[in-house]
This record gives sequence, structure tokens and C-alpha cells, in this order.
Amino acid sequence: MVSKKIIYPFLLVVIFCLSGFSYSEFSIKPKYSVPNNDEDLNRRVDSLMALMTLKEKIGQTVLYTTQFDITGPSIDDNYLDYLREGSLGAMFNATGSAFTRKLQKIAVEETRLGIPLLFGYDVIHGYKTIFPIPMGEASSWDLELIEKSARISAIEASVEGLHWTFAPMVDVARDPRWGRISEGAGEDTFLCTKISEARVRGFQGDDLSQDNTILACAKHYAAYGAAQAGRDYHTVDISENTLRNVYLPPFEALVKQGVATFMTSFNEVNGVPATGNKYLLKDILRDEWNFDGFVVTDYTSINEMVHHGYAKDLKHAGELAFNAGVDMDMQGGVYLNEMEKSIEEGTISETQLNQSVRSILKLKFKLGLFDDPYRYCHEDQEKEIILSKEHLQIAREVAQKSIVLLKNDDKILPLKSDTKIALIGPLADDEFNIIGNWTARGDRDGVAVSVKEGLEARNSNFTFTKGCEISSDSRSDIANALEIAATSDVVVMVLGESERMSGEAASRTNIKLPGIQQELIKEIKKTGKPLVIVLMNGRPLDLSLESEQVDAIVEAWFPGTSGGHAIVDVLFGDYNPSGKLTVTFPMTIGQIPIHYNMKNTGRPAYIKGANERYSSKYIDAPNKPLYPFGFGLSYTTFEYGSISLDRETLSENTTINASIEVKNTGEYDGEEIIQLYIKDVIGSITRPTKELKGFKKIFLKKGESKTVIFEIAAEDLKFYKNKSGFINEEGKYEMFIAGNSDHEFTDSFNFIFSKI
Ligand code: NOJ
Repeated sequence: MVSKKIIYPFLLVVIFCLSGFSYSEFSIKPKYSVPNNDEDLNRRVDSLMALMTLKEKIGQTVLYTTQFDITGPSIDDNYLDYLREGSLGAMFNATGSAFTRKLQKIAVEETRLGIPLLFGYDVIHGYKTIFPIPMGEASSWDLELIEKSARISAIEASVEGLHWTFAPMVDVARDPRWGRISEGAGEDTFLCTKISEARVRGFQGDDLSQDNTILACAKHYAAYGAAQAGRDYHTVDISENTLRNVYLPPFEALVKQGVATFMTSFNEVNGVPATGNKYLLKDILRDEWNFDGFVVTDYTSINEMVHHGYAKDLKHAGELAFNAGVDMDMQGGVYLNEMEKSIEEGTISETQLNQSVRSILKLKFKLGLFDDPYRYCHEDQEKEIILSKEHLQIAREVAQKSIVLLKNDDKILPLKSDTKIALIGPLADDEFNIIGNWTARGDRDGVAVSVKEGLEARNSNFTFTKGCEISSDSRSDIANALEIAATSDVVVMVLGESERMSGEAASRTNIKLPGIQQELIKEIKKTGKPLVIVLMNGRPLDLSLESEQVDAIVEAWFPGTSGGHAIVDVLFGDYNPSGKLTVTFPMTIGQIPIHYNMKNTGRPAYIKGANERYSSKYIDAPNKPLYPFGFGLSYTTFEYGSISLDRETLSENTTINASIEVKNTGEYDGEEIIQLYIKDVIGSITRPTKELKGFKKIFLKKGESKTVIFEIAAEDLKFYKNKSGFINEEGKYEMFIAGNSDHEFTDSFNFIFSKI
């Protein structure tokens, strides 16, 4: 049988000849291949573009969803017609080799030029093998492992015909009411940057022409995490300094790293919707950062500029978006339906359209789609690669490392193997919620491992009853829960939110455990049995009641496909927990916004000399959160020595080494995440009270010590100051190295510009 690889270029030659094109590179060299270098790439793109009609060019800027998966408010049933007429350049929510092949075949065989489609999908924390939700995974602070999980996600997604993931979400997020806090790496810019880089490395690898690497997408550009009142899609009004110092650095870092695509955000920024924001998209992204991939909108966000009150109609919205720098329209149909007219009228220039099309085609070439449009469809390998033993084992490891031990009074954990457990709670026997949301093709029932199954697999001694539901107020199982608790050695309650309570369009004004779960805790507490709670949730919760009532709190997030095993590994000490929070857990919702590096104010409270009444504080709650950024316990203890600095003064062409000895002083081997914080004491604009500037994760056997060294450079101290850009300033810098952000400063150094 003649392979499609041979037929495809042959057909193209026939199509081109029939179409009457007198010259094209294709007629001379019909066999496409991955371009060797930029020159080669540009030549090929140019010669293809020379063949394209205006309609076909516009088609490349159009992205539509299939009905296979619904990730937004609207579906346009006509996508197959658009595809056939060559008006679609990319599709999303189509997965599986068979399905993507079928759609690709239409693009390749039924359209005039046969330009292959690009298939995108939300592969956020795994494709079929699901890893912990991104906020959970971030709690591992383990960049190698995070890269590995993104790599596996890319391998599984690409074997099923996908070329492009709408990830990572790199929005710094500081409001636990915002459901999408679960999709990012937390509240800190530095950590978020490092984690986002690792994710892009994992997705894109170092060679996009490999058929197991996929395009990544830095989203949502920009400042989506700063939505007012934590309400999704809400307004962002932000100073230039905060935008540049807090929200933009992860995006810039990803441009430097070669991220292929960017996605605009739904929100407005200072009165201009991000999708029509020339300042963000042209001035910063293209001109300052030299981004050379393409920019896609979020789902119908061009159309939404009408609701924003920024565009008078869809055509106007399309012009605003395109002229601001948006190359591809996701699901809005605005470029599809309106752009031709705008070009005719001169409100959009064809030259600029050519640039957008060029950047899209370039990536299709780089992926090798012109060489073989089906090269990512591997029906024969899907079974063997997806959910492989190795992938599930790594998912278990990532889940173990994502777990944060928040409380462990009287060393109630780890449990002994023969402990008689009363397993209670709505999420204990749950294979559905445990993988979280944005779970791509992740299987839930029958594949994901619940905590109950994890205990069964370990032959643990336990009895189970649910006790209550996640949100309903039925009390019918409380009596059973009390009964099994009474005859146990320890109660393990698995509590939390449903997966739908976080993620997109899932903001909450109440961040306590929902339903009657708190009531159940109080009832069980009355039995006097030691009480451990395991939490699954997609945001920081208000755990003020829990922290008083229970003996141990295990924050497991939504831990993914192998989550039940990982939680049981931690409960019994088969894995000694090492995760640390990447986001502050408030004492009460009234403290929000709260993050570890807020400003000092002119009337700082709780310090020597502060006036009791007239200082910056609450009269009904402390300023401090319940659990600070960077916090997490271990079954062992770590002792930090004092810092030694190899010099006292830093300049722009020297570095300072800060070293510290850390000793495992407890009874278990374990990992510790050692964190370096620096404070710029006086700035020409006020500076945060502290900033994370480095971290290292080390393993120490019990009794073992290691010296850890952080190298501090001028670059680490730079900050953005309006009109001046990123600058260094001379002066004193205080620092500490500790196991979490809540610590006093112990050392300092000076920064002075060299005189040379
Ligand atoms: C809307 C979400 O905001 C975005 O993150 C996602 O990638 C798209 N929908 C596509 O599903």
C-alpha cells in the first residue's frame, strides 16, 4: 500500500498544477521537510504565502473548537464548513489520533492549498496521566520534577495528535477567592517564573521538530490574577510599577526561553481590555521583549470587547485586537467574518496580516507538519505510552512532593502500619474530584486512585463511611461516622472542595470548607480520638476552625491520578512530606488580599514603638496569616546555622556567596526547601518587606548536615521603576535564609556601584 506520506506531497503538486500556479517552491520541491535554518524557513513560508489568497491568509488566523469538549460559552456548529473552505488554521478540543487525523485529512485533502491544521488543547496538569493541579505541583518547589511532569504531558498529548497546549498559566495570583489560583504557581513572582520556565522546558523540549514536543502558551497576558475582589474576568486597575515588578516578569522570562505562543487575558488592564491592548501586545511583548511567536486570544475575548464597552461592534473589536497585536482569534469568528472588510476599508493592513500568518505558518513548519501532517497521530502507540507504569509512578512521586503538612501535633503522623483507622469524609472514596479540574483526557472512575483504594492497596486496617457530602446539608451519615470513630485508634477525614469549585469561573466569597464538613469535624472531635484531616482543594482555604480542632492537617490539593497512593504514602511515612506553600493561607477572609511580601506602610504594627491604636492593623484579627508563604512541616526537623557572607559589599560586576549549614536534627530522613529572602531597605520607590530571591531543595539523612550556598548578583536586586526601567539602587540589603517566609532578618550587605 502507498503510504500517506508519499500521497500527500504528490497531491499537493497535483493541486498546485491544477490551480494554475506558474511558480512556487512547491512545484519544484513538493516534498516538505523540517527547515534546516531560519533562512530556509523564511523562504518556504514566503513561497507558500505567495500562493495564498486573502481569505486563505485570514483562515490561518482562525481557531475553532469542536464539540468534543466544551471549555467556553459558545460553540459554532459550522466549524466543519469553515475547515473545508480553508477558513480554519487551527482547532482545539479535538483529541485522539483517529479524530485529529480525520480533521487533518479534511484540511490536507479538501482545501485548495492543503495547509495542515494546528491542534491545541488545555493540557494543564497532564493529559491522561494527571498530575496534581498546578498550584499543588508548585508546592513541591521541585523544578526537575515539574519539568518532567510537563514532559510526560507533552508525550501523552502528542501521541494523540496534539501540537499545542494552552499552558502554562503564569499569572501571579494573590487572591484565594479567585478560582484560577489553582492553575498557577502561586503568589510569588520569582517562584512563579522558575516554575513556568520548567513547565515550558517540559512541553517544548529543546527541539520542536520532535514529534513528542508541543508548543507551549504563556497565558493569560496580562495581570489576570489581579482581578478585583477575586471575581473571575473582573477589572484590573494596576500601577505600572506593580505590573512590571509583580505580574510581567514570568511572561518576559518565557519569551527569553523561546515560548512559542502567548494568550491574551479576558480582563482589562487600566481601562483597556488585554485583547485590544497595544501597550501590552506591541510595545512590551513585541518591541521590548522581541517575541517572535504568535499571540492567540482567549475564548471569544475579541467579541467581549463590545461588552467591555471598548468596541462598538464586532468589526471594530476585530480591528482593535488585530491592530493591537493579536494574531489568532480563538472561537470568536471575528477575524473569519469581519477581517476581509476591514482590510478592504484599510482599517487593517494586509502587510500586518502577512506578518501574523507568517508567524503561524513558521510554527507549523517547525513542528514538521508540512513534512507529514499526521506525524503526531500514533494510533499504534497510544496504548503503550499513555498511562504507562512509568508515568503513573512519576505522577505518584509528584503528588507525594506536592503535599504540604500544615499541622502535626504530638507527632500524630506518621501512622503505624497496624493503626486502626476510621476513614471518613466525602472525598475519601472519590475517584472523580481527586484529579481536579482542567484534566484534559484524564480518566476519573476506575483509573484514578482514591484514598480508600490507597489504603486497601497497603492492606491497612480501616473502616469507612462518608459522614457527609461535599456541599449538601444532609446529616444522615453522621451517626455512622461517630460510630466508626469511636472504635478506632485514629480518625482520618478526607475533606475539601469539589473540583468544580476552583478553576475558571469558580470564584468563591466563602473560602471555608463547604457544606456541613466543619460541623462533622466538630462532632468527630467530641469522640476524643486523634484527628487527622486530609484536604483536597484548589485554593487556600480559611482553616482557622480546623487548625484549632484537629491534630494534623495534610494539604493534598487535588493530587491527580495516583493521588490516593501518594496520600497514603505520606500518612504512613513511606514518604516524608516536604511540600511548602506557594501561597498564603489567611486567618480569615477579611485579610484578603494578603501575601508574604506586602509593603511596610508608614505605621507598621506589632513592632517596637508602634502605637497600639494608630497603626496599620485590624482590630478584630491579627495581620499575620494562618500559614505563611513557604511554610510546610516535615516528620523530621531541620536546624539552620548562621549565614556566612564571603563579602559585605556587592556591585554590578561582583557576586556575594551566602552560605549556611542545615542539619537534619529529627528522626527521619527528609527533604527541606531552603529559602533566601532579601529586603531592599530604602528605595526611591518603596520596596516590599521581603522578597524570595533563591531556593534550594536538599535531601538530608537523619543526623546529616549540608552547607548550601546562594550566589547573589546585582541582577537579583533590580526592580522596575516607572520611566527608568529595571534598575539597581545603592544601599543596604537585609536578608535571611529559612524554611519559610515568616522570619526575622539576620544579616545584611551593601550594594554600591563600582567606580570603574
Ligand atoms: C478559556 C480559558 O481562560 C483559557 O485558559 C483556556 O485555555 C481557553 N478557555 C480554552 O479552553
